[in-house]
Amino acid sequence: MKIFEPFTLSGLKLKNKIVMAPMTRSRAIDNIPNDIMKEYYSQRSGAGLIISEATAVSANGTGYPRIPSAYTDIQIEGWKSIAKGVHENQGSIFVQLFHTGRVSASLNLPDGSETIAPSAIPLTSMQMYTDQEGMQPHDVPREMNLTDIQQAQDEFVQAATKLIKAGVDGIEIHSANGYLLDQFLDPGTNQRNDDYGGDYKSRAKFTLETTKKMADAIGASKVGIRFSPYGVFNGMSGDYKEITEAYTYLAQELSKIGIAYIHIADQRAAMSAPEFATQIWKTIGDNFNGTMLGGGDVWSAERAEELLEDGYDLVYIGRAFIANPNLIEKLKNKESLAAPDVEKLYTPGIEGYLDYV
Ligand SMILES: Cc1cc2nc3c(=O)[nH]c(=O)nc-3n(C[C@H](O)[C@H](O)[C@H](O)COP(=O)(O)O)c2cc1C
Repeated sequence: MKIFEPFTLSGLKLKNKIVMAPMTRSRAIDNIPNDIMKEYYSQRSGAGLIISEATAVSANGTGYPRIPSAYTDIQIEGWKSIAKGVHENQGSIFVQLFHTGRVSASLNLPDGSETIAPSAIPLTSMQMYTDQEGMQPHDVPREMNLTDIQQAQDEFVQAATKLIKAGVDGIEIHSANGYLLDQFLDPGTNQRNDDYGGDYKSRAKFTLETTKKMADAIGASKVGIRFSPYGVFNGMSGDYKEITEAYTYLAQELSKIGIAYIHIADQRAAMSAPEFATQIWKTIGDNFNGTMLGGGDVWSAERAEELLEDGYDLVYIGRAFIANPNLIEKLKNKESLAAPDVEKLYTPGIEGYLDYV
């Protein structure tokens, strides 16, 4: 089957076309990547490529409890060790970098940081978990000024530069699922009147500038990006005016930068987005000259193969990887797959994390 054949991603040799999707697991006590995370990712090195859980670029971007970050030396050391573990098992790993923006409760933020976003519009349709006090309202974010914008972009570039130096294979920019970059793209959360808000080209400016700066720093071939068109998670709009034009424009501009891949998160799987009629990812693919990565609800090699036939170059698998560390072998042998324990997705410690076989 083609899905088990090797693929070259902008020069990086992947042993198969299955990508482990980025999945937050909240095991990083004090936001420091640790040995159990090294073991977890090493166990899953059979994937052609692992994309790590979302990792904060700065203290301001750390809106959830126990997510890993990548801005202090000790955090980078943790990622260095994880990358080494994956490489020792002949795997490859990109770190997904994000900034939570308005998806944040101050109890989760390290001291001295604050919740900032494109506009001062809080997320009210859901609440945020905190270890100290359980579910809490999200903060009302402070609207970012031009200095904040510059700083947040620099944070992405600095984290990426340090991670590449530490040995990770590449960086995925998280511009999906309602976090800071998506908050700039979406007209519901970006109501700015300056160059970074207004029409879709202005709303795309933050994502495109950040990507360009990162590509200049670490090389475009080491950069990928994730989008979630029509996504509703974290209070995003789903559909909006000129959404097709917006993603067409992003794809064309990202082609010019020359990044390795565009990754489409289909939120109809696992994240409750309503059905939508367009094949937006095909429009994006038609306007982008790099690799296209997609998936959602893939639990068999046959389903992954269908996505390749439909035009994707690589296929991501999320939940099945949580409960089946040796997923590739199980798919090859058509073994039945275990289901993840949903009670332990985000709990600290090894239970529901390292104890799957
Ligand atoms: C526990 C969990 C955590 C997730 N965390 C992230 C994340 O950190 N970054 C991200 O882009 N998507 C995240 N997602 C979405 C997955 O990457 C993926 O798109 C989704 O699970 C659908 O794929 P699947 O049907 O193969 O599970 C998460 C999903 C789950 C189930």
